[in-house]
Amino acid sequence: SQPLRVGLAGLGTVGASTLRILRRQENALAARCGRAIRVTAVSARDRNRDRGIDLGGLAWFDDPVALASSDDIDCFVELIGGSDGPAKAAVEAALSAGKHVVTANKALLAAHGVALADLAESKGVALAFEASSAGGIPVVKTLREALAGNNVSRISGILNGTCNYILSRMEQEGLTFEACLKDAQRLGYAEADPTFDVEGFDTAHKLAILTSLAFGTKIDAEAIHVEGISAITPLDLKMADDLGYRIKLLGVAERTKTGIEQRVHPTMVPKSSPIAQVMGVLNAVSIDADAVREITLVGPGAGGDPTASAVVADIADVARGTAGLPFGLPIARLEEPKRAPMQRHEGG
Ligand code: HSE
Repeated sequence: SQPLRVGLAGLGTVGASTLRILRRQENALAARCGRAIRVTAVSARDRNRDRGIDLGGLAWFDDPVALASSDDIDCFVELIGGSDGPAKAAVEAALSAGKHVVTANKALLAAHGVALADLAESKGVALAFEASSAGGIPVVKTLREALAGNNVSRISGILNGTCNYILSRMEQEGLTFEACLKDAQRLGYAEADPTFDVEGFDTAHKLAILTSLAFGTKIDAEAIHVEGISAITPLDLKMADDLGYRIKLLGVAERTKTGIEQRVHPTMVPKSSPIAQVMGVLNAVSIDADAVREITLVGPGAGGDPTASAVVADIADVARGTAGLPFGLPIARLEEPKRAPMQRHEGG
């Protein structure tokens, strides 16, 4: 059969890793998908930056919207980022033109995920976003496919690698918040604007997506109570330590009697708990569900290769024709979320 022709927009850390993995795994992916995956065109802001990858032979588009609607691609991979602007325009253009879309963009999905999924559904194309939540951890597919026989009651976890990296190093090495954040940026973990990481918004974007998948409700990012880690001091960490706790930035969504509650805030967790053992750039997601009881997934939550691992898996789904509906059910079947009134909570 014909190769899947991929157009990739955004050649930052994740974009460059995606290209490298697609090349390294070319033969294995062709065998697994029954057809070749071929990146034919790319788009990025700066054509001349040295990314350590050979872009020879690829068509270059200055405008991601032009790439997204090009007749020479079947699948548009959006790794630009940002909830609006070029990322949104390009994803809409691709879907409208009947192209499959793969994106890692949690901010875009948190704001417009339902409308975009609706557009994808009406055009009969895929909108795949495994990489949007918890980096390399396959939590989207877990909630949507592996747990299809369950009623989920709660999701909680560490969903931002940058914050977990910062808190871990502050605690273990006594470094300042600023020094740790600089390292997270240097290592390619942080968002373009790191306030999204440290103020909890990135965690909230991911939580909004996971809540929708877990409970079959429309995304309701505005319902999330959000508090970040920028006010946490080494003294806070020391005091928690003395009491037998670690401080983690957690995202929690649960079904309560009064509705769905979603919150993001620094949380004291007992050092003996599994979540407290998760240190560095790792993420962890615990899911409570009626049949499976509890499962916890742990793995790299940020960084080029781990995130690209999820992007490539979605491209493989598209190539194979197994991508399925974005939220696992038709948009018309997603419920309107009922917000639980906020309560005060101690512990995770
Ligand atoms: N800035 C994000 C994080 C990247 O640190 O987790 C992955 O979404």
